[in-house]
Amino acid sequence: MDSSKLDKIISLCKRRGFVYPGSEIYGGFAGTYDWGPLGTELRGNVVKEWTEAMEDHENMAFLDSSIFTAAKVWEASGHISGFSDPMVVCNHCHTKFRADHLLDVIGVVADEKMTEKQINAIFDESRDKLHCPVCGKKNFGKVAAKSLLATSNLGRFEDEDQEVYLRGETAQGIFINYKNVLSLGWYSIPFGIAQVGKAFRNEISPRQFLFRKREFEQMEMQYFVSPKKAPAAYEDWKKERMTYYDRLGVKKEKLRWKQHENLVFYAKDAWDIQYEYPFGWNELEGVHYRGDYDLSQHQKFSGVDMAYYDEETKERYIPHVIETSVGVDRTILMLLADAYDEDEMNGEKRVILRFKANMAPIKAAVFPLLKNKPDLVKKAREVYGLVKKEIRPIVFDDNGNIGKRYRRQDEIGTPYCVTVDFDTLQDDTVTLRDRDTGKQERVKIGEVASVIRKAIEK
Ligand code: GAP
Repeated sequence: MDSSKLDKIISLCKRRGFVYPGSEIYGGFAGTYDWGPLGTELRGNVVKEWTEAMEDHENMAFLDSSIFTAAKVWEASGHISGFSDPMVVCNHCHTKFRADHLLDVIGVVADEKMTEKQINAIFDESRDKLHCPVCGKKNFGKVAAKSLLATSNLGRFEDEDQEVYLRGETAQGIFINYKNVLSLGWYSIPFGIAQVGKAFRNEISPRQFLFRKREFEQMEMQYFVSPKKAPAAYEDWKKERMTYYDRLGVKKEKLRWKQHENLVFYAKDAWDIQYEYPFGWNELEGVHYRGDYDLSQHQKFSGVDMAYYDEETKERYIPHVIETSVGVDRTILMLLADAYDEDEMNGEKRVILRFKANMAPIKAAVFPLLKNKPDLVKKAREVYGLVKKEIRPIVFDDNGNIGKRYRRQDEIGTPYCVTVDFDTLQDDTVTLRDRDTGKQERVKIGEVASVIRKAIEK
């Protein structure tokens, strides 16, 4: 556990415009964060890489379903009855906690997917060791399941009795549109539907920065496959999803597989890809074999036939589903933790984000050596314009001395800095500085963009 590293990352994120605490000027709003300019670029890179990885499949469709849906969707999916966190209240100071988190502190493992009865039994066994983290008293009530679905008042305009929820996951939008996509005609089983979008959960204790938020973003893919071919397809997807993290440049030794111990009754198998965050190993992505549960439930609740006629095998069946589901926010937290480093360059300490070049929010920074020399500034503006035609995003920076500008770019992970100096005015070359080594080489202005592009495409 390296909580000081997490604190350093949180502070860097604020200082350098990656992530701002939500509603900060009004005292904050727990579990929400705003992406700053750098965070917005990083988020864009994550979504782009994930989308491209999904596009590598021949039979992959993309969808953008709505956040508000009919309440029946969540009834069918089981979210209304079973999507909850185990909550416990301190009888003394009335603060609410997640029972599994309190147990975790004393080394007792309680899976968040356990039933209310199971978790109450474990909680009761440990009661005498459990202190309230706020008031220190040992006086907790009973553990109760608290629904994670966030409600809205939208439905009240149309139907007084029906609650309208904000979606708790993007997956249901895929299931309810599976027949629509299939009817396009050029998709046949096996095929996948992928979608990126916001999800909302009424987390009791949002924590660990971007790890557990109330409003977050998911990148989910449901692969519809025949029951016979599903087990092999599941193994293929597992391999593929782990390989995907090479594209992001994540350290291999920080990733591992973890199988679910308590499978939900309908799941055939469930594995998570875990990352070693500064607070320990925890879930990054779920790769789950869900059988025909979701489509069968929607068939039951909607009355719409979800079966598929397989021309090849002449069989009718409800397709099985392999799901891959990863959060954008958790991916970004992983990228920040993986890239964060401190070293010394030219006798000075520096903080550096060693992003793989394709993930770096800013690809290059262009500087005039001196701010007060109009010839240098003019030439640097020209170089900036030229490079920007081919590489984006890049920045122009003439604030502070050159050393300060390098430090600033190192801290946000910019792979290259391009400096226009007095030699540039004579020979049309610039210095190109490498973030990781600090090495500088002279490059012709016309070649700068292609050198940077090669690094990004590596
Ligand atoms: N459709 C399956 C599903 O939603 P999940 O394990 O609840 O499964 C999938 O969520 C992924 O979404 C997680 O692996 C994680 O990356 C992300 N995620 C879930 N809850 C989150 C939260 N409160 N904050 C940030 N990311 C979250």
